[in-house]
Amino acid sequence: MTNATITGWGRYTPPTILSNDDLEHLTDTSDEWITTRTGIKERRISHIATSDMANIAGRRALAAAGLEPEDVDLVMLATCTGDTVIPSPAALLQAKLGAFNATAFDLNAACSGWLYGIDLATSMIRIGRHRRILLIGAERLSHYLDFSNRATAVLFGDGAGAVVLEATTDDEGVLATTTGADGSAAEILWVPGVGTSGDRYQNEDHSAYGVIMDGPEVFRRAVTTMGEAATRVVVEAGLDVDDVDLLIPHQANIRIIDATARRLKLRPEQVYVNIQAYGNTSAATIPIALSEAVEQGRVQPGSILVFAAFGAGLTWAAASVRWGARVEPIGTATVDVPPPDGDVFDLLRSNIEFFGKGVSE
Ligand code: ACO
Repeated sequence: MTNATITGWGRYTPPTILSNDDLEHLTDTSDEWITTRTGIKERRISHIATSDMANIAGRRALAAAGLEPEDVDLVMLATCTGDTVIPSPAALLQAKLGAFNATAFDLNAACSGWLYGIDLATSMIRIGRHRRILLIGAERLSHYLDFSNRATAVLFGDGAGAVVLEATTDDEGVLATTTGADGSAAEILWVPGVGTSGDRYQNEDHSAYGVIMDGPEVFRRAVTTMGEAATRVVVEAGLDVDDVDLLIPHQANIRIIDATARRLKLRPEQVYVNIQAYGNTSAATIPIALSEAVEQGRVQPGSILVFAAFGAGLTWAAASVRWGARVEPIGTATVDVPPPDGDVFDLLRSNIEFFGKGVSE
């Protein structure tokens, strides 16, 4: 049987940090509230486009797999914050990578996007349609944040994570996947003003161009859907929760992560958490966390990993994976990134002006 196994991993986290203390200058919040209610201490703000972050993470994952960009036959970019609508950011990314033997497309399932990609990539490899896939989650959520709105400004950040999936006949790789969606809950987390249904130029305070969210309702549904999805991929793989070496959950709120871990009866050392450093980077959270976990030795040859996510849509997804024999990268990629032009407040200036000023001003 052909399996899909992860052979490369990489990430890009922008250098500019937005701390909770910084946010206190932008909205009516406090480090104490953000830390205790979400677990987040800081997040990153990107000075480069989504496809540029994806390019760096992707090159690092390819180097870890010992591959060149021309070796992959599919580039899949999970994002809900792409640089362009036309063409797809995946097309921009394919050119930046130089992955000219690959077909390329985007996948938008919000925070579940990268795991939807794992599900799709595994199916494609199993049926023989593709053999080497670069799957990237990359997000520039800061673009859509109104930093005067404390309900959403404190939660999100920017970044990118990537993996290479390859066909193998070894008994390793993705064991089970599940995905789901409930579009009837779309309005509990959305950006209504962007897209062809938007009432162009009518939203004078620009609020419809930002993230609108019913936080407690998202929270409630997240705990149920992530827990159920994670349990399903453990059972469908013929495993027990005791077999799980590491749960790498979507990083949206430490209380959601803790509740999911409790539901699965996992011990803290079985759960990877980095929300304190990056906040919620949507489709990028799990591949960023995975690449850190491998580097930190939290992933060992043969480790059983479980990934689980939920996101806008609502969507949810999970996957169980048996890691292969290699936990060291074959190579490393050197990528030049231009430095940010100014400090974090300089990077946020256009957001603050946009959301702070009506369209008629
Ligand atoms: N700083 C200070 N106070 C705040 C802040 C803030 N940043 N945000 C809200 N509050 C206040 C509220 O105004 C409210 O005050 P009140 O009691 O005087 O009315 C109080 O804190 C409690 O507000 P709640 O919304 O009930 O707080 P809750 O404990 O539910 O935490 C949170 C809010 C963090 C948003 C939580 O509900 C959550 O994490 N939900 C999930 C959100 C999420 O994961 N979104 C991403 C989904 S993934 C994707 O696809 C993008």
